[in-house]
Amino acid sequence: MDVLVHPVAHLRGSIRVPPDKSITQRAVLLAACAHQTTQLAPWSSAQDCQRACELIRTLGVQIEQQGEVLVIQGRGADGLTPPTAPLWCGESATTLRLASGLLAGQPFAATLSGGPSLSRRPMRRITEPLTRMGARIQGAHGDASDPEELYPPLRIHGRRPLQALTYTLPVASAQVKSAILLAGLFAEGPTTVIESVPTRDHTERLLERFGVPVLRRGSAVTVNGGTPLKSPGRLAIPGDLSSAAFFLTAAACRPGSRLEAAEIGLNPTRMRLLDVLQRMGARLTRHLVEEVWEPRGSVQVEGGVLRATRVTPEEVPALIDELPLLMVAACCAQGVTVLQGIGELRKKETDRLHSMMEGLSRLGASITLSGAEELHIAGSRLTGARVESHGDHRTAMALAVAGLLAEGTTRIAGAECVAKSYPDFFDVLARLAGSGVIEHLP
Ligand code: S3P
Repeated sequence: MDVLVHPVAHLRGSIRVPPDKSITQRAVLLAACAHQTTQLAPWSSAQDCQRACELIRTLGVQIEQQGEVLVIQGRGADGLTPPTAPLWCGESATTLRLASGLLAGQPFAATLSGGPSLSRRPMRRITEPLTRMGARIQGAHGDASDPEELYPPLRIHGRRPLQALTYTLPVASAQVKSAILLAGLFAEGPTTVIESVPTRDHTERLLERFGVPVLRRGSAVTVNGGTPLKSPGRLAIPGDLSSAAFFLTAAACRPGSRLEAAEIGLNPTRMRLLDVLQRMGARLTRHLVEEVWEPRGSVQVEGGVLRATRVTPEEVPALIDELPLLMVAACCAQGVTVLQGIGELRKKETDRLHSMMEGLSRLGASITLSGAEELHIAGSRLTGARVESHGDHRTAMALAVAGLLAEGTTRIAGAECVAKSYPDFFDVLARLAGSGVIEHLP
């Protein structure tokens, strides 16, 4: 499906976005291993979360949708059953990597497989620590350029108990941290992950919610093996800040806009985009409504003229999924914005550094790559053109924001991929932007 995006005069109103994808996937996996039933309401039914649900069903756990509520009949730490077929993760790396942690600690073998894009994403970052903990893992090998790398499908021969591990993350990744912590639940003794830069801490917060003590000391986080998971009963997943970010950034860049995103997650390990937009001069306010479990609240933004900024490598993990959007905001800012330490963008659903540079360059942006991991983006006028999503949801949505801010019409090819995280994105955008701004082509 292609979508045409026309320029928007301004964005005004209040939006509600779907519940957080990262948190929903974690909640499904933990609920499966907990005693009793867990109810998620609301929860994200985006494609990636459906994959997590299907995977857990294939491991013998009953999951049902009852109206708006997702009901998961947890089977306890010993309750997962050996799958008779490969566990299909679609394009969800979070599902595959976190499930690998759980499966490492099961007394059976299972295969995790994925679609074309997931099958090209690097897995050694999880297989290495999980192997050290005692799991045996086979995967597909890399080509001559990187023969040491492993790719899905992964065949995991789990072991119970695993060996406890203290591990310093070589790459800042919440998925890797989470895989190790989940495996740590099935280890003998304490498992510790040390991170040089903090990454999103949803797994830690949810583990605590499921009754597992999590010790945080500086940059180290520790769980003790053998602690049973107790269902918290009902969990309300906050709105996904990464989805709200598309609208908030568009509004920040368009003078005359005034937009509110209500009931969204305001976890400090995910919020750096808001800080950076403020640094760029955006008039943005946040209201924390609730601090229990996951902080949540609302964000208001008023559009204005932004100025360039520098994003440092330490800031990247807390805005990793918003980097494509920042590239768009940088095009609308006065001066040259520098984004440093962004090499991980190459390892997402597509090489996002390439897909965004290509898309924005077609719209007339002035972007140069300095070395492998640093971008320089000069503020410039964008003009509509045909751009490609490369099958990547965040590229498609970020380029749609660029289209709103460009002159003329932007055509986004392969726009259906937004279903991975935000199936209704273009409908919500059409309602918000007003008639005629968004057109769907067959
Ligand atoms: C995620 C962590 C990030 C992020 C991804 C979701 C998670 O990936 O980009 O969209 O749910 O833990 P990395 O852990 O690879 O940085």
